[in-house]
Amino acid sequence: MGVNDLKRHFGVLGTGSAAPERILTNAELETMVDTSDEWIVSRTGIRERRIADEGTTSSMLAYEAALQALRSANMDPQDLDLIICATVTPDMAFPATACLLQDLLGLRTIPAFDLSAGCSGFGYALSVAESMLVGGSYKNALVVGVDVLSRITDYEDRSTCVLFGDGAGAAILGEVPEGYGFLASELGAEGSSGSVLQLPGGGSRMPASARSVQERQHYIKMQGSEVFKFAVRILDESARRVIAKAGLNPEDIHWVVPHQANVRIIRSAATRLAIPEERFFVNVERYGNTSAASIGLALDELARSGDVQDGDYVVLVGFGAGLTWSALVMKWWAGNEVCHD
Ligand code: ACO
Repeated sequence: MGVNDLKRHFGVLGTGSAAPERILTNAELETMVDTSDEWIVSRTGIRERRIADEGTTSSMLAYEAALQALRSANMDPQDLDLIICATVTPDMAFPATACLLQDLLGLRTIPAFDLSAGCSGFGYALSVAESMLVGGSYKNALVVGVDVLSRITDYEDRSTCVLFGDGAGAAILGEVPEGYGFLASELGAEGSSGSVLQLPGGGSRMPASARSVQERQHYIKMQGSEVFKFAVRILDESARRVIAKAGLNPEDIHWVVPHQANVRIIRSAATRLAIPEERFFVNVERYGNTSAASIGLALDELARSGDVQDGDYVVLVGFGAGLTWSALVMKWWAGNEVCHD
């Protein structure tokens, strides 16, 4: 038996998602800032987004998505031995939201930590979890991307408040048969461009003060067109590289699940990659940009739609604050899915 015979393969065993019930429509935003449904739809593709009520936190949405993912993988919380939570809106600075989630799941000692990579967070967390599983110390990991961006969105800033929404997406990772699961991944960051998308207040550089609050420094500040240019370039480049690394060509890809920020960005990626738009899963019109939740939420909706088949090649690709990006290719394994409720 050679070394390769011992190699284990890891992939997604189940998915879940959660979104608050309250819907914020473009028509409502028209009454809040100087904008229009026509502008929002034509520039972004977004029609509505979900907004958490006052009592709902990131860990609560993460818990709901995690339970659903466990059910779809036919597992109990006790089957998990690792939790990674990607978020830029943790319940609080510490303890980590992943630790709060561990407690909600009734688990006592398994490692749990948060990861901050903006909207690339879900892909980053999948890749880190897979490396830890390959390392051999863990069997089944829970990865959750969750954000309650409405808490850090400035509803007086029309250039950002129309874009964002709240939600969570989860995946259970575990062993899959040879040839299935994660085939290639790429994580990256351009820290020198970090200032184009940031939350200035509340950290060690600018602790919360009466002045920081008055100056609205605890809200997202974004140079949208700079992020747009980065997104268009990096989605194409990173997806292209990771597809080649998996030994595939763009035409082999059945589904691309991109970060859901803007349909114009997604369409541009489709054109540049020469992958038909119908193979891009898009739900941004109903949720807006849910940051770390976006790819997990979209992947869960794709899985539940029944449109992704066993053996399909699926690309997950995202970009976000950092600036960061993540791209992964996997061969979809449907063998573990027992129910989609
Ligand atoms: N309603 C009406 N007008 C608006 C609005 C609005 N909501 N927002 C901006 N405008 C105006 C601007 O003031 C500007 O007016 P001006 O020309 O008189 O100055 C005009 O519309 C054009 O603004 P642009 O910023 O050039 O518009 P653009 O076509 O680039 O679209 C957008 C803006 C949608 C923000 C786009 O740049 C974008 O999607 N960028 C990427 C954003 C993104 O994905 N961010 C998330 C990253 S992930 C994360 O980690 C959170």
